[in-house]
Amino acid sequence: MKKLENKVAIVTGGGSGIGAATAKLFVAQGAKVLIVGRSEEKLRKTMQDVNHENLSYTVADVSKVEDTQRYVRHAVERYGGIDVLVSNAGTEGPYKHILEHTVEDFDNVVATNVRGAWLSVKYAFPELQKRGGGSVILTSSIVGVAGFPAHSAYTTSKHAVVGMARALAHDGAPFHIRVNAVCPGVIDNDMMASTHRLLAPGAEEQLKSTLAARVPMKRYGTNEEIAKMYLFLASDDSSYSTGGVYLSDGGITAGLL
Ligand SMILES: NC(=O)c1ccc[n+]([C@@H]2O[C@H](COP(=O)([O-])OP(=O)(O)OC[C@H]3O[C@@H](n4cnc5c(N)ncnc54)[C@H](OP(=O)(O)O)[C@@H]3O)[C@@H](O)[C@H]2O)c1
Repeated sequence: MKKLENKVAIVTGGGSGIGAATAKLFVAQGAKVLIVGRSEEKLRKTMQDVNHENLSYTVADVSKVEDTQRYVRHAVERYGGIDVLVSNAGTEGPYKHILEHTVEDFDNVVATNVRGAWLSVKYAFPELQKRGGGSVILTSSIVGVAGFPAHSAYTTSKHAVVGMARALAHDGAPFHIRVNAVCPGVIDNDMMASTHRLLAPGAEEQLKSTLAARVPMKRYGTNEEIAKMYLFLASDDSSYSTGGVYLSDGGITAGLL
């Protein structure tokens, strides 16, 4: 039995990385999925990889109200409603000490990671309500529960997402809408590759080995491993779970060293 049979899901940031792996897994588990992102090229690539009639896309910037209303409307028009919202679109912003960090960079990170997540719930919520309930998954990070040096905007934004999930769990519960946050650790994908380039230009592999050595499981995670966490929270397997913060980080936040 497929875990998302007859369910409709929106996955923001579905054009790459964790979001693309999630779209693929959800479709394989019987869902009809709308992926959202700013780059049509990336969304088309996911469409090609998944190659299934139950996947479609909308080009939209999650930080904008009109774009959010539009992608929610598209999901309803195409599939008849919404059962699952995976707010996964995110941007890491610069690695800069507060003395060098610009206000503009801070605003850009918060606009996507915080405002974008909040808008997605605001406009999808009435549709989940109409279906008699559903599941919302917000994407935080290990820096949603711990600090990382010279990364204050992203860390602030991901802590905010944890608070958002906890508050919205209360708003959702009377309507059988569960809201949880997922905190991926270091994931072996393009976003982390860009982090390596920003932090250690020319010594990316060395940095990767150093970071991996700090993970108790001694390795990076994969997009597919995070997608499986999303699937657990999207499906009835997590029917008594709301307001939770789900780490998928190989244990990196568990210890002192
Ligand atoms: N990679 C990691 O190690 C890691 C660790 C912890 C948490 N995370 C979080 O996991 C989520 C997925 O990241 P990822 O690792 O899969 O990286 P990614 O490949 O860079 O994915 C981010 C996605 O978000 C989309 N996006 C960014 N800004 C957007 C906007 N304003 N409107 C619409 N879409 C937007 C991007 O597409 P467009 O550019 O086309 O818009 C992209 O597809 C993010 O929230 C990230 O912060 C990642």
